[in-house]
Amino acid sequence: MAQLWGGRFTKETDKLVYNFNASISFDKKMFKQDVEGSRAHVKMLAKQGILTDDEKNQILSGLDGIYDDVLSGKLEITDEYEDIHSFVEANLIERIGEAGKKLHTGRSRNDQVALDMKLYTRDEICEINGLLKELLETLIKLMEENLDTYMPGFTHLQKAQPITLAHHMGAYFEMFKRDRQRLDDIYRRMNYCPLGSGALAGTTYPLDREYTAQLLSFEGATLNSMDSVADRDYLIELLAAMSTIMMHLSRFCEEIIIWNSNEYRFVEIDDAYSTGSSIMPQKKNPDIAELIRGKTGRVYGAFVSLLTTMKGIPLAYNKDMQEDKELTFDAIDTVKGCIALFTGMLKTIRFNKDIMRTSAMKGFTNATDAADYLVNKGVAFRDAHGIIGRLVLYCIDKDKAIDELSLDELKAICPVFEEDIYEAISLETCVNKRTTIGAPSPDAMREIIKINREYLKNS
Ligand code: ARG
Repeated sequence: MAQLWGGRFTKETDKLVYNFNASISFDKKMFKQDVEGSRAHVKMLAKQGILTDDEKNQILSGLDGIYDDVLSGKLEITDEYEDIHSFVEANLIERIGEAGKKLHTGRSRNDQVALDMKLYTRDEICEINGLLKELLETLIKLMEENLDTYMPGFTHLQKAQPITLAHHMGAYFEMFKRDRQRLDDIYRRMNYCPLGSGALAGTTYPLDREYTAQLLSFEGATLNSMDSVADRDYLIELLAAMSTIMMHLSRFCEEIIIWNSNEYRFVEIDDAYSTGSSIMPQKKNPDIAELIRGKTGRVYGAFVSLLTTMKGIPLAYNKDMQEDKELTFDAIDTVKGCIALFTGMLKTIRFNKDIMRTSAMKGFTNATDAADYLVNKGVAFRDAHGIIGRLVLYCIDKDKAIDELSLDELKAICPVFEEDIYEAISLETCVNKRTTIGAPSPDAMREIIKINREYLKNS
């Protein structure tokens, strides 16, 4: 048991207590960040004359040695240390002796852990952002390739109006674009350095907190030392943003599962992203999409869990806050894995364009356009709605689509119909006439693709 704080105690910590309290098993994930923070701290201490240049150099080369040895596997991070901070400090002292004991001057583990977690979170935000960008690249490519791949658009999971695959993919593009913007916002808001806040009340050493912040590429130093060690807002925001990413992925997965079903057959998930059944030889299951949908609950759980942990904590640091780590790490790893797998699945999925087109032609997706046709011929919309409703009933009875009726049949229901009705309610017309911003016509979509290509180039 290696602890940093034995002096005031007369008894050994109970073994169960030690294990319950220790965080090394999970905070070792922040090893790199812990060393990086210590490097900056030591440079600042020397600049302020709190350490000599010689002490600084000894500590820096000691830290470098530890860093290299851990990365090369020569030095193992083991459970005999309470946490990652103790591991680094104890190893430093072992390596360089007296100077190592000065590393923690003007610092507490409270501001140290706040810093480590921020550094870790910053890196991960960038990684998630990059993964989302690749997903967006995949989506925009699908949009460009499918401007006239017709399919039904749904409301209530009932066929509503025809759209294109490009348009459908475009909806998800907007969602994941907002997700990236949310990450950018969080990054900007959290990017202030807590180091130098001490345990809660700053320190009496003449630290230069702005300098430390600058060395670690923060926008500046945090402005209240109690808030600095007690703030986990950025993690809550990140968990909320990641929950939203998962919600988007989960909706997309749900659609893919439906589209991949025997009844729809709009898509076929690639063999590499499907699994079989141990008993039913014919099965090819969309397990990956289902698992991503399932893991969404896990990320929501982390979000609610941290919010709940934080709600009753008096200022400033309390040990409850150690609970932020496991769940945030798990949520980050889950989200990264899910985005990467989803992107791979989407890149390899096959769209059965004929089936999608046939589906769009069935189910009266052109009924609104048929009503609009009558309106253009002078019928009031409410009357047109009623006429087309009766027409649909007639079609259901005859098991035909509207455009499969003869002109005589159409005229029998409403004499206003003329030969041009067929052109007016064709799949192509229904889509191509929807040209307002954000609508599915290929022309409108090309504009959106241009805007989003530009966005990808600049982000
Ligand atoms: N393992 C702790 C955490 O994650 C580090 C801070 C410990 N500070 C303390 N006063 N016990 O929060």
